Amino acid sequence: MTSSASKRTASSEALPSVDKVVVIGTGFIGLPLALQLAKKGKTVVGVDIDENLVKAINDQSLNLDEAELQALLESDEVEENLVARTSAEEGDAFVISVPTPLTQPQKSPDLSAVEAAVESIIPHLTAGDVVNIESTIPPLTCDDIVAPMLSDAGFEPGEDVFLAHSPERILPGNVFEEIVHNDRVIGGYSERCSRAAAQLYEPFLEGDVYHTDLVSAELCKLMENTYRDVNIALANEFALIGGELGIDITDVIGLANNHPRVDILRPGIGVGGHCLPIDPWFLNEVDPEHTNLITTARRINDMMPEVTARRIRHALSAYDSPHILALGAAYKPDTQDQRESPASDIVAELQLDGYDIGHRDRHVDGMEYDDLRTLVDELDPDALVQLVCHSETNEELVALSDELERDDVLVLRPGAGNPLHPESNV
Ligand SMILES: NC(=O)c1ccc[n+]([C@@H]2O[C@H](COP(=O)([O-])OP(=O)(O)OC[C@H]3O[C@@H](n4cnc5c(N)ncnc54)[C@H](O)[C@@H]3O)[C@@H](O)[C@H]2O)c1
Repeated sequence: MTSSASKRTASSEALPSVDKVVVIGTGFIGLPLALQLAKKGKTVVGVDIDENLVKAINDQSLNLDEAELQALLESDEVEENLVARTSAEEGDAFVISVPTPLTQPQKSPDLSAVEAAVESIIPHLTAGDVVNIESTIPPLTCDDIVAPMLSDAGFEPGEDVFLAHSPERILPGNVFEEIVHNDRVIGGYSERCSRAAAQLYEPFLEGDVYHTDLVSAELCKLMENTYRDVNIALANEFALIGGELGIDITDVIGLANNHPRVDILRPGIGVGGHCLPIDPWFLNEVDPEHTNLITTARRINDMMPEVTARRIRHALSAYDSPHILALGAAYKPDTQDQRESPASDIVAELQLDGYDIGHRDRHVDGMEYDDLRTLVDELDPDALVQLVCHSETNEELVALSDELERDDVLVLRPGAGNPLHPESNV
């Protein structure tokens, strides 16, 4: 597969052939790419430091929360073309999709996994390889960290290897659809680097590809998520104002969005997930002087779990030591992803107050329940608080509403006339 004789260097005219792809980091982002490429006949090596994950990919025992992705994992083509490993090996292209969290409490980008991933591929690089970073990274990371690491190892970006950054936009829960149909921005060390990296997506991508430079691609991803975070913070402030005025803000946002140039997102109990609560801080890191609006919005959204906990406390003030059943631990509806989950922050906050809380989520391992009626009978709560609007939970609560009322269970759900905010769809 990988033949350096048949490859082109980054400075020759033709683009390299990309037959074997090594994906470093096979989590939410790396695995779907590995599956798509393997399905389309590429030889794919998924590399992860998590031995259990590697084993689960190889024996196809992973439990993915999208049926179509699961089917892809179990397909004959994937079985034939994808292998997972705990260490890198040679390939025509390397895709880096490792975590880029924040350090705490400083809220600075922790790029140690990206650096470790680049380090891990260097012994396996040959001239003409593509190195494509998919991880979300602060502006200048490719120029100031990745490119020098490659140069120091004897691989000049743009000459010996094709360096690119193609940030991922897929939404957990809708990955199967979005990885194929979303448009893709690819920033290159040079235009040819960007075009070389585009070959990674050609086998399956149906969206458009936009070529740009490295810093623009880095910035573009952060701007997308920051735009949504700031918009949600604005919606949250509107909801707080609506609360003071006794107005259901969902209706008013709906009215305002009839304006042809207004698109206010929905308020919620907080903003979770691996992107929105983190990425705006990357901009703050590179330019703290010009990120006042961005960091204020971040703080407003971070405050929402506390605001929601206060509303729940208020709603329960007439009860003496109420027993609560809290439904939902994922960061958003219809996913099992719990990262930065505001629902879990709310439960933790109420538990600190001494509330007795049973916390369940039908999508989250270890928190599942089969049937809400049985769960309510078992836990006998005074109040049921819906924190995450999973579709099935919504249906269960509607079906059981009369019975819960008869059983004298106080139900707090997002929505009109209710102490909780509507659920945001981040
Ligand atoms: N999850 C999302 O919705 C999403 C969306 C767009 C972009 N991103 C970005 O994509 C990147 C990856 O996110 P994710 O959600 O896939 O994270 P993840 O935690 O689900 O997966 C990352 C994987 O990388 C592995 N890993 C860590 N260090 C490694 C190393 N040195 N070598 C090999 N494997 C290593 C981890 O074990 C893990 O399995 C992040 O930068 C994130 O911000 C995520």
